[in-house]
Amino acid sequence: MLDHLLQKWHSVFGLTSPEIIVRAPGRVNIIGEHTDYNEGWVLPGAMSRSLYILISKNEYNTHHWVANDLDEEYQFHSTSVEKEIPLWGKYVGGTINLYARDTGPLNILIGGDLPVGAGVSSSSSLVCGLLFALHDIYGKKETTEELALIGSRVEREIIGLQGGIMDQFAIMLSKEKQVMMLDCRTKKYDFIPAALPGCKWLLINTKVKHQLIDSDYNQRAKECRQVVELIGTLFPEVLSLRDVKMEMLWTVNLPDVLYRRARFVLEENNRVHEMVEALQSHNAILSGQLLRASHDGLRHQYEVSCTELDHLADYSNQYEGVLGSRMMGGGFGGCVICLLNENVVEKFSQHCVSSYADRFGFDPDIIHFELGNGVESVVTL
Ligand code: GLA
Repeated sequence: MLDHLLQKWHSVFGLTSPEIIVRAPGRVNIIGEHTDYNEGWVLPGAMSRSLYILISKNEYNTHHWVANDLDEEYQFHSTSVEKEIPLWGKYVGGTINLYARDTGPLNILIGGDLPVGAGVSSSSSLVCGLLFALHDIYGKKETTEELALIGSRVEREIIGLQGGIMDQFAIMLSKEKQVMMLDCRTKKYDFIPAALPGCKWLLINTKVKHQLIDSDYNQRAKECRQVVELIGTLFPEVLSLRDVKMEMLWTVNLPDVLYRRARFVLEENNRVHEMVEALQSHNAILSGQLLRASHDGLRHQYEVSCTELDHLADYSNQYEGVLGSRMMGGGFGGCVICLLNENVVEKFSQHCVSSYADRFGFDPDIIHFELGNGVESVVTL
């Protein structure tokens, strides 16, 4: 993979090697969906599939960015982000503008084996990898946690998605074979081994991304803020859904939609804590039940699932040997994450692919992964 990217680098930028090569992984999330922007808890990790970002300063005062997997490139003379710039270029330009505005132009090559639009946060992987590289090249002093927070500002301030901090913390700080129990209010985190004896974690990519995501994602964040406002009139100590107790939901007369959104977030936060216990006590059955309950809530209460995700979750949740399965990430497409007995992985994958293809006319992608380290620089010989 890297050899191929290095060849590409030299064919575009000439003989000089990149100043730094960074590997930035994708993000998986065991449980704790839509809880991060409500100052709750999440349980993500970094996956073994990654983006590589190769960078050097450009000597000719031209910005030259290449997205290898998309076969697209972008060259220009100023740092202003123009309208017709592709989305990936917006992320690159936004990150540079926010973090290293006064530095000179760069040659950048991006590529890897991370699926785009699959709900594994390839955009945050790009932003975090870039921040890590800029930090190194310009000898900046922020801690990795501070860089993760800058990464989440790119999403909110440049792209306009009112997301939380889960993806950036997981991508920046994860550790091999573990998941991160992150408190999104205090920003404190612990690592927990995610292996369950005899079981495997697996992703299945629907390969659909319904365009609703941006507006609906922000709509959910807005609904959560509305709940906090309404509850805050009776309980002024409530600053976010993190502070809300189930009894408060019953006391305040919330519209049905808001009640369901809030109830989901409260229950999902509880499930994160229960999942930590389930992992620590190697209780695969309980882990599976929590995944199923999470999907049910995301589908019926938070309403961020879609037909393709529901099909995969339903199919896997009735398959013998699958402990549990749920949609992962923001929703409206992307992947389900599945916990299953390792001896059924192959059979299940075949059956699942054909049942999906029969219904939708194309195959989903089965994505095998291990839990890996967060962003790191790569040394080449
Ligand atoms: C996206 C956002 C995250 C998080 C998830 C849902 O991945 O970037 O901050 O809100 O959706 O859990």
